[in-house]
Formats: sequence, C-alpha cells, structure tokens
Amino acid sequence: MTALLNTNLGAMPLLGRGKVRDLYAVGDALLLVASDRISAFDHVLATGIPGKGIILTQISLFWFDLLSELVPNHLITAEVSEFPVSLQPYADQLEGRSMLVKRARMLPVECVARGYLTGSGWKEYRASGTVCGIPLPTGLLDGSRLPEPLYTPSTKGEAGTHDENISYAATEAAVGAADAAELKRLTLAIYQRAAEHAESRGLILADTKFEFGRTAEGIILADEVLTPDSSRFWEATAWKPGGAQPSFDKQFVRDYLESIHWNKQKPAPGLPDEVLERTQAKYLEAFRRLTGRELNLQGVDGTHRT
Ligand SMILES: Nc1ncnc2c1ncn2[C@@H]1O[C@H](COP(=O)(O)OP(=O)(O)OP(=O)(O)O)[C@@H](O)[C@H]1O
Ligand SMILES: [Mg+2]
Repeated sequence: MTALLNTNLGAMPLLGRGKVRDLYAVGDALLLVASDRISAFDHVLATGIPGKGIILTQISLFWFDLLSELVPNHLITAEVSEFPVSLQPYADQLEGRSMLVKRARMLPVECVARGYLTGSGWKEYRASGTVCGIPLPTGLLDGSRLPEPLYTPSTKGEAGTHDENISYAATEAAVGAADAAELKRLTLAIYQRAAEHAESRGLILADTKFEFGRTAEGIILADEVLTPDSSRFWEATAWKPGGAQPSFDKQFVRDYLESIHWNKQKPAPGLPDEVLERTQAKYLEAFRRLTGRELNLQGVDGTHRT
C-alpha cells in the first residue's frame, strides 16, 4: 500500500489541513480524516507512513469506546457506509481513517495530563522546580514518575506555533471557573483510566493531550484521543529515568533525521524505505499492544494510491 498524503474530496468544503488530519464540513457535522502524513520536530516530512492514518484512527476509536462510561465524545460514526451519500464516491480515501463527528464549540484549552516528567514539563522543572507553576519535590529526573498525575493545561497555539503552558487560573479566565474545574476533573480521570489500561499492556502513558468541546449536550471529548500523535507511550521494560526515553513510534524517524544532520528547517526531508517500514511496524505494534487485536491494513485499505 502507498501513503495517502492529501485527501481530495472534490467539492466537499475543506475547513483545514492540520499537520496530520484534513478537516471537512459535512452538513452540521465534521469529517476528520487522518492522512498518512508524519511530523517530526514540528515539520511534516516529505514521505508518509503507509496506513498511519488508519492505525491512529482505529486507536482513537478503541479509546472512545473504552472511555465511553467516563465521558461522552464527539463520534457519530466511523463506518464509511453510514456516512452521507455525498461522501460515498470517496470511500476508498476514507475507509478506516475517518470519523464523522459532532461539530462542537472547542474550549480554548489544551488539556494535558502528565504522569511522568519529560518534554516541556521537564524543561520548566529544571529551570524553576515547578510544572505549570505547581511546585514539585527536588531530585526528579527527565523521565521520573510524578508523585501523582498532574493537570498541566496549555494554550492552543495557532498552526505552526508552540503551545504554551498556562496556570490553572488562566484556564478559569478563559472558560470560566465551572468549565475549568470540569476540564481538570475529566482530564485526570481519563488519564488515570487510560494509564491503567496501558500499564496492563506493558506500556507507560507518560503524558497526553485532550481537547474538549461544548455542544447542546454539554462538554464532550473531541479531536483524536490517546494516539501516539497526542501522547507519549513508553515501553515499560525500557523505562529508565535520567534522559530522554525512546519514543515508542518515532524513534527510528528521529534517529534517521539526526543521522543526516537535518537543520530542522524547511524543506523537510523524506524517509528511506527501511525507516518507513520500521515505523509502520511500530504504529501497528502500538495498535496491537493497546487493543489486543491485529489490524490488517491490506484489508482495510484495499486500493493502491499514490
Ligand atoms: N468535534 C469537533 N468540533 C469542532 N472542532 C473539532 C472537533 N474535533 C476536533 N476539532 C478541531 O479540529 C482540528 C483538527 O485539526 P488538526 O489537529 O489536524 O490540526 P491542528 O490542531 O490545526 O494542527 P496540528 O497539526 O498542530 O494538530 C483542531 O483544531 C481541533 O480543535
Ligand atoms: Mg491538533
């Protein structure tokens, strides 16, 4: 199978293309289509990972189902045959990788939960002993488990900008005290449930980001959830605080990009076949480990495209 880099749904109104997903308006609903684009160091690379969008969509669907008792979500259906007739001509581009969702008014907070100290949390801790202004014990290392999971909200940066950690008070100012409290409660509850599940599968859920929206029904979980693109999963047996942990999905990509000394400026390079294949295998492994099921990409995709 070849990688699907850009969807093309004819006259369907395209609302935007993120680094990975294409977003269309379908009547009152939204269609989120995960392409096979892969980003590294904040750039979309020139080559895609065949089937990545299918694998990530199937991982999100697994979690929406597992979490459905904790929180309502935006999914209407991911069965292409149940999509409106206007989408049926594009079934081969959509199969397995798209979700028709309720359009929500997105709450302008990236809801991050961290069970482990790394990334921007580690940077802040090293500088000030805090994460999002929350004081932490001394002596923690990059990769240390936190005494308890933290809610560390951030701003939702415009495309191409970095999200910035903000205080809890800033989220109250952004969405009001009641919604701020609900976002925090939901984020920590979902993190805890998901981290327990991951642990039962030999994976550490180091941190993750959720986006919530509001509909007439109240606050719902939107966007993608608990995929390797929105979360850090680590191999539990390889966990060793004191430095960057290997990335479950993108380590081969990062190692390759470091090996060619890419300056991390445009244009982003492509990846050689071997790196593509090994990375696809990691995404499939993530699906298998998290869900306990196999995903047959040939079966889901069917066609060959360029
Ligand atoms: N149910 C929903 N209703 C309305 N908007 C939604 C819903 N679910 C997700 N979104 C929004 O759709 C967009 C999905 O786009 P996507 O994540 O691909 O790109 P992005 O966030 O702009 O950029 P990035 O590549 O940095 O993630 C996000 O802006 C997200 O907030
Ligand atoms: Mg996004």
